[in-house]
Amino acid sequence: MDLRGFIDRCEEIGELKRIKAEVDWNLEISHISKINEEGGGPALVFENVKGYSSPVLTGAFGTPRRLSIAMGMKETYSMCDLSKTWMKYSLGKVIPAREVSTGPVMENIDTVDSVNMEKFPVPKFYPLDGGRYIGTAVFLVIRDPESGKINLGTYRMQMLDNKRCGVQILPGKRGERILKKYQKMGKKMPAAAVIGCDPLLFMAGALQQEGVSQYDVVGSVRGEPTEFIISDFTGLPIPATAEIVLEGEIDPNNLQAEGPFGEYTGYYTDEINKEIKKPCLEVQRVLHRNNAHLWATSVGRPVTDIHMLLAFTRNASLWTDLEQMRIPGIQSVYIPPEAAGRFWAIASVKQSYPGHSNQVANAIIASTTGSYGIKGVIVVDEDIKADDIGRVLWAMSVRYDPLRDTEILKRGRSTPLDPALDPDSNKLITSRILIDATTPYEWENKPKEIALDEETLAKVRSRWQEYGF
Ligand SMILES: Cc1cc2nc3c(=O)[nH]c(=O)nc-3n(C[C@H](O)[C@H](O)[C@H](O)COP(=O)(O)O)c2cc1C
Repeated sequence: MDLRGFIDRCEEIGELKRIKAEVDWNLEISHISKINEEGGGPALVFENVKGYSSPVLTGAFGTPRRLSIAMGMKETYSMCDLSKTWMKYSLGKVIPAREVSTGPVMENIDTVDSVNMEKFPVPKFYPLDGGRYIGTAVFLVIRDPESGKINLGTYRMQMLDNKRCGVQILPGKRGERILKKYQKMGKKMPAAAVIGCDPLLFMAGALQQEGVSQYDVVGSVRGEPTEFIISDFTGLPIPATAEIVLEGEIDPNNLQAEGPFGEYTGYYTDEINKEIKKPCLEVQRVLHRNNAHLWATSVGRPVTDIHMLLAFTRNASLWTDLEQMRIPGIQSVYIPPEAAGRFWAIASVKQSYPGHSNQVANAIIASTTGSYGIKGVIVVDEDIKADDIGRVLWAMSVRYDPLRDTEILKRGRSTPLDPALDPDSNKLITSRILIDATTPYEWENKPKEIALDEETLAKVRSRWQEYGF
């Protein structure tokens, strides 16, 4: 599947609308997209952007139905079940990516003098944004100079001018660690930013699984190999059917002011008060398909498609981590999109020994995924599905005793984008809360839960229509 295959499939089942009216890249596209998303609307393809002939796609992942399409499912799965499916496939048979000699991405090649990112209808999202953001549904391909391994990472990208992009690689990310290696070697880092591709590849760019090739993971989930071309310019593997690829170098010693940007937390980032310098991609070659589709997410307050994506990918990688840690009894795991897709995690566990639920909560925040940015974990018993928020609140009301069942941890890795942390601190550390909303396993006399009488229930069911319902 490529982006166009995804668009076609969404359109076939009424999950996508083409906007033919003329729209402006300056705020109008993002505002239409936000209102549409808040009303649970379809994905949008803007075909008539003022001054441009190529389209913009937004709202791709706004609903579980469209996420299911991206995953290649015939039916609609819940977010929780989608994450479980990803977890199962990604831990199954590895389907390695396959090199091909060429692909549609090579239809147009703009070499250094002709590079002009303004040829694409790049949106400006919010009034106080620092500029136009070309990379919101993007991933950056780089190579670790020591291990030779390829890394994909999604980092927002602002068009600083028509040949340079600010790239917000946050502290501690693999991307940052790799960039530092190039710095130590006194070299610039070759990089390729991919905009528009198989939706699973974009999802994989946001995965935090260590030591795996995201191209291979996507192959395993998709059931067929990801096809890539080795760029004759950067030597990096790029998806053969990508819409747009920006190729160039990042000089670790040449940071540039980037932002502010209205982020997925619903707040502007800190650059609103101070200038923050970020890595900068000097774009030296642009590859793109004919009529390149510029894919953009909408951002801002939850829930947008970015929160759906974050919730899905983080949940999938958290569940994978827990599986790999061999924690028994896990029934379901859920990171709600309403929690901005990252700050809270809920797990349901079938307890088999004293302290089991506590082990699950601790495992979540000790895992690769959960150790970054999660502020709260709630554990419930097996009778409640992790994504059944109503029942989770019920468990917190009737099974949870705050003094007994709460643990506060003082220091964990935070995302610097968290607006709840003091803007004048470095925002790298957050506290965490673990809430155990299960009935303690070791209690001999457990409270008796009310259940309906089975015999009467069967009788009532059989007479249901008789009652006039
Ligand atoms: C739409 C979207 C935008 C993101 N923006 C950023 C960003 O600007 N900076 C960043 O460091 N991480 C961002 N992330 C999260 C990273 O993609 C994620 O942490 C990923 O694992 C980073 O890869 P790395 O650890 O290999 O560097 C974003 C994720 C998504 C889905």
